[in-house]
Amino acid sequence: MSQQPRYPSPSLAVEGKVQEFYNRYPYPRPVDDLEEYRRHWQNQQRRRADYHLFWPTRPYREGQSILIAGCGTSQAAKHAVRWPAAQVTGVDISATSVRCTADLKRRYNIHNLQVYQLPIERIKDLGMSFDQIVCTGVLHHLADPDAGLSALRSVLNPDGAMHLMVYAPYGRAGIYMLQEFCRRAGIPATDEGIQELIDALSWLPPGHPLENLLREAPDFRNRAALADALLHPQDRAYSVPQLFDFIEKAELTFGRWVKQAPYSPCCGVLANIPQACRMKHLSLPEQYAAAELFRGTMLRHSMVVYRSDNPDGQLVNFDGVAWLGYVPVRMPDTVCVLERLPPGAVAVLINRTHTYKDLFMPINSTEKCLLDAINGNRCIGDISERMFSSSATNSQHEMVRNFFERLGQHDQIVFDASQRYKIRTGMNEMGQIA
Ligand SMILES: C[S@@+](CC[C@H](N)C(=O)[O-])C[C@H]1O[C@@H](n2cnc3c(N)ncnc32)[C@H](O)[C@@H]1O
Repeated sequence: MSQQPRYPSPSLAVEGKVQEFYNRYPYPRPVDDLEEYRRHWQNQQRRRADYHLFWPTRPYREGQSILIAGCGTSQAAKHAVRWPAAQVTGVDISATSVRCTADLKRRYNIHNLQVYQLPIERIKDLGMSFDQIVCTGVLHHLADPDAGLSALRSVLNPDGAMHLMVYAPYGRAGIYMLQEFCRRAGIPATDEGIQELIDALSWLPPGHPLENLLREAPDFRNRAALADALLHPQDRAYSVPQLFDFIEKAELTFGRWVKQAPYSPCCGVLANIPQACRMKHLSLPEQYAAAELFRGTMLRHSMVVYRSDNPDGQLVNFDGVAWLGYVPVRMPDTVCVLERLPPGAVAVLINRTHTYKDLFMPINSTEKCLLDAINGNRCIGDISERMFSSSATNSQHEMVRNFFERLGQHDQIVFDASQRYKIRTGMNEMGQIA
């Protein structure tokens, strides 16, 4: 007779089940080649955009300490390759994931990476603290996500930034239905169970809420991903309001979404609905909650958060005059399309990493000139001056402000806001001609 492991508490029992699950089905699928990834991140502009997404108001640097919490098979090794001057620490509860990471470290001679088999809940045992903590796809699998997030918060440096990704409920409705089906039908998380599930899914009736995901999510084509989604022993999701409660309880503050356009009433289909104007008057968390409900198919939320006692914060804003000193940095994977344009547009800007196809941004000829003047060094004030000399009218000034704010909302640029703007003679404190 096989002996069931005994756990002293229900939450340790969950932790044990999750650990067993990932030992058997490590996620993501182990990789054995990091060369393409290394090449991809050799581009300094790409790294700079990534850096300022987390720290718009801090000057660029590369030597940060990074924790990858729940690193899976390759995420910590990838970050160490991406940031060769950083010190990267990976922890994971699964021995298989730690072994895969250690293999990559050996094979690619990655000197700036340490990896430990350790649950997030005991992260303090390392006796370290970090500038950046990346925890994606993990907290929603914990028996007590609040305890996990608080543990991470306790090792985040005061001006540090966290990248969190957790599941979102509405887009995953079909997944939760199938998880419940598997429990009721007694489909186990074993190789036979996965095969049984694949056979059953080939009969899924048209119109089932899982249908689109099966068709569109490339992840679902491999067994580990299918098991991770449908046979997971512990999985919960957070709606936007639940997410804001979650981070506030851990004494963290929301910074931004990693991709913010899908949540904005200024972008895509949401900008066209009759309620768009009213939505813009709601508080930001309420706007995001409404966007999640209207879009209906979000699968996950990926965000940047800070310690709530971080005195400076890392928010960029377009009040006052400071924005004139922001240096726009183009986001990687953005393209400027010049064909098949809507009326009045000379180009359409697309971020290819957006999964929603309605998030494109049409621009006119003046805006195209402003866009072309972005070179990663010029601040908005200088770009505006090149275009309108030093005497932009107040309406030109407003147009420039709106345009760069919209570029940010559409995930076309991030801002390096680390330098102060010197107000020119003749400008008031709003940057307008006095
Ligand atoms: C879905 S995978 C995500 C991996 C990685 N973060 C990524 O985005 O590619 C979840 C990972 O979290 C790990 N994990 C789950 N519970 C954990 C815990 N309490 N402490 C540390 N790691 C945990 C699992 O072993 C697994 O490797």
